[in-house]
Amino acid sequence: MIPNPLLKTDRSAMALFVFSLVFFFIGGTLTTLFPALVEDSWSKPVEGLKPLTDQQAAGREIYKREGCWYCHTQQVRKLPSDVARYGWRGTAAPISVPGEYVNDAPHFLGTRRIGPDLSRVGGKYDRTWHLAHFRNPRDLVPGSVMPPFPWIANDPKEFEALLAYLQTLGRARDWRPNHDYEE
Ligand code: HEC
Repeated sequence: MIPNPLLKTDRSAMALFVFSLVFFFIGGTLTTLFPALVEDSWSKPVEGLKPLTDQQAAGREIYKREGCWYCHTQQVRKLPSDVARYGWRGTAAPISVPGEYVNDAPHFLGTRRIGPDLSRVGGKYDRTWHLAHFRNPRDLVPGSVMPPFPWIANDPKEFEALLAYLQTLGRARDWRPNHDYEE
């Protein structure tokens, strides 16, 4: 029988440690860091991506502070269900690319999709809709599990900032056809 060096890890703590490091290295460095180092376009902003204004950046801080990212992702995956669901009137949503995130620190890719992905929400709804939605999501979407955010809805400065930030999401890709909503 061919000796299998991995079997040693059953008996030797040192072997387990060394093999773990090797596999972590493959998973963590070779497959995630290395491609980003060789593929230039990943660190370049996509065409149309503008730095956030002070007001939009303030809105982003509110998004962070309120933990919107606990429930909302900002990444449209390659799945047909993603591009269709986050699309608009029959137009498929563009799949997220690394260049969309270069100005984001921290990024809000998110982990759980309790609510819909928000990376294409810019321009989808107008001010009135968002105001009513933050005041009480269930007034607009019966059964919504999104909590009300009255302290945002009732504070014009905070609301305008958060709205300004939300309206930037996905706009760099300039994909929404004939959208007729205000900025
Ligand atoms: C507990 C989870 C949760 C949190 C926290 C949360 N949301 Fe939501 N959100 C949802 C769910 C579920 C929906 C879908 C139902 C609805 O529209 O209310 C939603 C819908 C939305 C929509 C409409 C998306 C669309 O395409 O229709 C926006 C915009 C939104 N949320 C923004 C926010 C912002 C901004 C915050 C932080 C201030 C936030 N949400 C916090 C769960 C959450």
